[in-house]
Amino acid sequence: MLSSCMDQGAPMNFFCNSGKCATCVVQVMEGNEHLSEFSFNERYRLGEKLQSGYRLACQTFVYGDAMIKLG
Ligand code: FES
Repeated sequence: MLSSCMDQGAPMNFFCNSGKCATCVVQVMEGNEHLSEFSFNERYRLGEKLQSGYRLACQTFVYGDAMIKLG
């Protein structure tokens, strides 16, 4: 998702690109069904926030349309 957002010109914050710093947190507003399963690092870093749509952009793969809220 990180590269998709950057390709669209979205101003993304990211540091590690490996799921360890959590600077790339985004919130999925629509299209959860088009995203990859939660990674280990997302479960560890975000915990219950995953249920509110928060994801680590660098750990999430996009397979279809989704609406993402940055920052
Ligand atoms: S860039 Fe560090 S967790 Fe995504």
